[in-house]
Formats: sequence, C-alpha cells, structure tokens
Amino acid sequence: MITNNSYGLPSAEQIAALAQACFPEFGAPASGVPTAVPPGAVPVGEAPVLLPYIDIASVALPYAAPAKEYTGAAASGAAYKPHLVPTGVPAVSNIAAAHSYSSAQNYAVGGKSLAAIRADFPILSEKVGGRDLVWLDNAATTQKPQAVIDRLNFFYAHENSNVHRGAHELAERSTNAYEDARGKVARFIGAPSADNIVFVRGTTEGINLAAQAYVKQFLKPGDEIILTMLEHHANIVPWQIIAEETGAVIRAAPIDQTGQIILGEYERLFNSRTRFVAAAQVSNALGTIAPVAEMIQIAHAHGIRFLIDGAQSVSHMPVNVAALDADFFVFSGHKIFAPTGIGALYGKADVLEKAKVYQGGGNMISDVTFEKTVYQKAPEKFEAGTGNIADAAGLGAALDYLSAIGMTNIAAWEHELLQYGIAELGKIPGLRLLGTAPAKASVLSFVLEGYGLEEVGKHLSSKGIAVRAGHHCAQPVHRFFGLEGSVRPSLAFYNTPEEIDKLTAALRELVRR
Ligand code: ALA
Repeated sequence: MITNNSYGLPSAEQIAALAQACFPEFGAPASGVPTAVPPGAVPVGEAPVLLPYIDIASVALPYAAPAKEYTGAAASGAAYKPHLVPTGVPAVSNIAAAHSYSSAQNYAVGGKSLAAIRADFPILSEKVGGRDLVWLDNAATTQKPQAVIDRLNFFYAHENSNVHRGAHELAERSTNAYEDARGKVARFIGAPSADNIVFVRGTTEGINLAAQAYVKQFLKPGDEIILTMLEHHANIVPWQIIAEETGAVIRAAPIDQTGQIILGEYERLFNSRTRFVAAAQVSNALGTIAPVAEMIQIAHAHGIRFLIDGAQSVSHMPVNVAALDADFFVFSGHKIFAPTGIGALYGKADVLEKAKVYQGGGNMISDVTFEKTVYQKAPEKFEAGTGNIADAAGLGAALDYLSAIGMTNIAAWEHELLQYGIAELGKIPGLRLLGTAPAKASVLSFVLEGYGLEEVGKHLSSKGIAVRAGHHCAQPVHRFFGLEGSVRPSLAFYNTPEEIDKLTAALRELVRR
C-alpha cells in the first residue's frame, strides 16, 4: 500500500519504479519526450527494446482495498485527482528517422527476425487480386501462425474426444489439451489460478455472462452501470439488456477531443446508485489506451466492481489482471492469433462464486434429479455442454507463440509502427486521424476529406490492402466526433513499415486523382 500523497495514491515516481519492477525490460521510463529513444525493433542480435512511455494500463497500482462488499452503494468515495498520465510519446518515429527499413529481415521482435515471424503466418504470403496481401485489419481479427494451425490438426488427428467424461485414453488426451490451455490463459494474463478462467465463445459472450450471471442479481430500478464513451457494442448492448430487464440505467464516462477518458468526469459519475463499471482497456475504434488501473482504483474506492474488456488490448501489451486488480477481464481468441469461437472470461474467485449459473446443461452439473440440480464449482459451472475443445488448444498454442516472442517486445515494436503510421498518415492532405491520445495502441482510424469510407476501403482493397471501413461496432464514439464511421487500418506485430508505406502510397494516389 502506497499512501504518500493526500489522495492515498502512488506518485508518478512510484509508478515509474513499479513499471520497472514489473517489466524491467521496459528500461528506465522517460519523462516527457526522450532525447534519444531506442528503436522499437532492432537489428537481429541487438539489445531488447525500451518503451518510451510508461504503460500505466499494464502496471500494478497497489491501493488500500476497501474492506467491504463491492456490489453495494458508494462507500468511502475517496477524493481523486487525476495525475497519473502517460508521459507522452515521440512525435517522430524512429523508423522514419532511421530510413533503414528496406526489408523485414532488418528487424527483429523479441530476437526473431520480422521476416521469420511473417513466415510463421502462411496467409501473409497470400496474393489478393494478384498483389501481396497487406493485412491491416487486425482489430477485426488477426491471422493465425502455423503453430496454431498445426495444433488444431494435431488435436483432430490424435486427441479428439469429449472432455471430462470418458474413461478412455482419448478422453484423457482431450481433457489434458483443454485444461492445459486453461492454465496457459491463466498464466498469460496473470490470473492466480486456472479456476479463474471460464472458456467462452469470445468477448461478447464473456461480457454477456458477467452481466447476466453476476451483475444482474444486484440491480434494482434506478441503479447505474458506468461504461465509457469508448466502448464497442459488445460492451454496451449486454449492459443495456440487463438494464432494461431491471430498470437500471447506463452512464457513459466522457472522453476529450483526443479520445481519452476524462478521469475527473469518470469519477463524478459514481454515486450511491452505482453498481458496476465495465470499460475497454484499448478502444477498438480509436486505439486509446484507457487508464484502467486508475479507473479500477477509483471504482474500488467507491466499493464498485470493474470488468475490463481486453478484446483490443491483450494482443498488444502485457496484461496482468492480478496487478490491475480487475474483477473481470475478458478477451477473444481470434483477436490474439487464435481461432474464432473461443475466448476467455477471467473472474476473481469470490466473484465467480457469487455469480449465478449462466446456461444449463451437461458438464456444469455435479448431480441432477428432477427435483434439484447441484452445480459444479467455477469454471465448469459456467461451461454448459461440450466446449470448443480444439480451439481452446489452439488458443493455448497462440499464447505460447506470443510468450516466446514476449509481449513487451511486441508492444515496443507496435509502438514504433504506430508512431511511424501516425507521422506518415499525417502528411496526407485532407486526412484526419481519429484518436490522438498519447497512450494509444494499434489503431490508425481516419477520415479522408472528399472521399466516402467505402470508396477509400475499396481503393485500398484494389491494392491488396485490407482495412475496415465503417463504424467498427462502435457507433457512439464515432458520433462523438460527428461521424458515422471511419477507415481503420489496425496493426499487429507482424506488420512492417513497408506495409504502412503501401497504405500511404495508395492514399496519395487516391488523393491525387
Ligand atoms: N469489434 C470488432 C472490430 O473492432 C469486430 O472490428
């Protein structure tokens, strides 16, 4: 517990020390814009990279946890003054400065050349319309490494069986595959135990589960659920459904013109009727990295539980749910290089214990009579029916693949790519970037004056460049900026500076017409 100021919160220096303690490979955090920033990805064999900012969203923020039930009305409501903000990022990319990006072979992420990384993803060598595929639609879904494809093949060739139910060798193999994957998810996000991990179809199902099984039971007419203006529909609609069912209401924390949550305004939303908070760690439309560590501190100071929607964060930065003190954390496999139809919901043990059953059926029961059913404990309590066993194993393989490269290395390389992309897109006449918060990951949404979203998307597609054009399942945040949608290039660690050059060259060609 750190209480060295009047707000009982850690100082910026202590956050910096914590950042180094948690992620020593980040190196010494910079204050303001660094004078010499090492590149995010370095020639093969050189030292690991340093991040030129403090990624507070991933850093532990110890605080005095209130000794009370988190589902009740606001309790102490300790005053909070926003003061823990990222220290800023360099405006000019080191990639741009270096002008040395002629080949993916020149760069390495986590000690592995970018060319070798790209070779691990067969689809990245695909031709579309006779051109090299440039996959910049990673926020919609990510491509899969051969290791994941092989894992699915192996499962169906050697392990396929239902889990937990058979007295035979294949049942043991498939159960091991499924439960190993659960353990890998737990380790990847810093959960204390595999029992905290519920397999779900993805983020959407995970949020619906948390809403229906946990939050709904505490809601009465007039109670409030806090979301933020940044949320995508998966983190809006499930809450509206339970609000309609119970008479509760939704409050949305506002953002500023850069697309960052205004923490003071967020805290002002808490009152005696507040019952729950759910917020994205990274916005899918803007890429804003929300200060979830601070937001959780504030919620907990008011006695309120917090769900982090990690759909757009977990593939871009290290996540530690225990350090963040998240009550729930949810993510989708398909956005982290794993198959579709599998995802995970993390819940603290006491929260999962208090949650009601979600769906009924086999697997989630320990005894059934026509009079009464006794349920399993978490996580099986929430996993009715036969789960997505092979894809869970595939998810485990994806997390192994990422862990071998290192999420801090991935975050650093993507940060470089993003800064390069921001700088290069910023040179295109008439292009307006949406979301200019200093803390940002992966997303380069923009509108181009005089050109429709679909027109831009189609033109890019004719060059082999895949982006999403539309509202990206996040209409409220677009409307905040007076728009109905945007064009969204979104990065993953396998992208290259040359791909960003292809994007900007295609846009220049369009603008010149
Ligand atoms: N929510 C997903 C996206 O951002 C599908 O595109």
